[in-house]
Amino acid sequence: MKNIVLSTLVALGLSMGGSAALASEAESHITDYEFSFEGPFGKFDQAQLQRGLQVYTEVCSACHGLRLVAFRNLGDAGGPTYGEAEVKAYAAQWDIYNAEADEDLPGKPADKFPANTSAGAPDLSVMAKARAGFHGPYGLLFNQLTKGMGGPEYIASVLAGYDGHEKEQAGTTLYGNTAFPGGNISMAPPLEDGLVEFADGSKNDVENMAQDVAAFLMWTAEPKLMARKQFGLVAFIFLGILGVLLYLTNKKLWAPIKRKEA
Ligand code: HEC
Repeated sequence: MKNIVLSTLVALGLSMGGSAALASEAESHITDYEFSFEGPFGKFDQAQLQRGLQVYTEVCSACHGLRLVAFRNLGDAGGPTYGEAEVKAYAAQWDIYNAEADEDLPGKPADKFPANTSAGAPDLSVMAKARAGFHGPYGLLFNQLTKGMGGPEYIASVLAGYDGHEKEQAGTTLYGNTAFPGGNISMAPPLEDGLVEFADGSKNDVENMAQDVAAFLMWTAEPKLMARKQFGLVAFIFLGILGVLLYLTNKKLWAPIKRKEA
């Protein structure tokens, strides 16, 4: 028993030990933003997702596609949760290529956001899961349960991480960025304070808009995050109880034999 307790403590210690080492990539710095969807009981913040969608629509969509996300998902429970009429109106703002008519038509709820490769920018549909802000032990076990892998932290850190330096390399302008691996990114700083006006009067400085759009992109990458967490937590508790019961059963079964030996 002592051994089990000890090794569990060691494992816990290992997974917690890395908490301080947020930025293991030599020069990149990831800010550990607090998101509402962190932790075993975390939930997406509907208003924040709506603001994030607005930032994506007004700013990021000029260069980045979101081709795996359908407009109708904006109405799903747990997400931005727009009403049917709002989803319809939002979709209609977009021109979507229709193969039958061979022309662009106003989008319908069943359509997906268009791809966008015009600027050579990656699609953002699953970016929040494709990147990890927390590396090494920090991305393991209990930290993953409580904090996730840091994808949204990474995205927000990149958006807020411009250091003002610029340089030309092979005809491309590179912008100094404290979060992007290597320190230089070819995306010009997309956000500036006050760029997007929110209807609810929320703060619209770079840091806040960066977190809003990062939260929105976490939702596009994992819309069922909340369901998965609930299931994970139940499984966790269940396995814990099962473990204790098995331990006690084991003790009881062997007790007569052990007594005889003694
Ligand atoms: C003017 C075009 C443009 C706009 C607007 C723009 N981006 Fe980008 N973005 C790019 C390009 C180009 C890259 C590829 C950069 C590179 O790999 O050096 C990129 C890369 C990225 C990456 C990937 C970084 C990585 O790890 O590979 C993220 C995340 C990102 N953009 C998010 C956003 C968000 C969120 C917005 C809106 C707030 C936005 N971008 C607005 C052009 C743009």
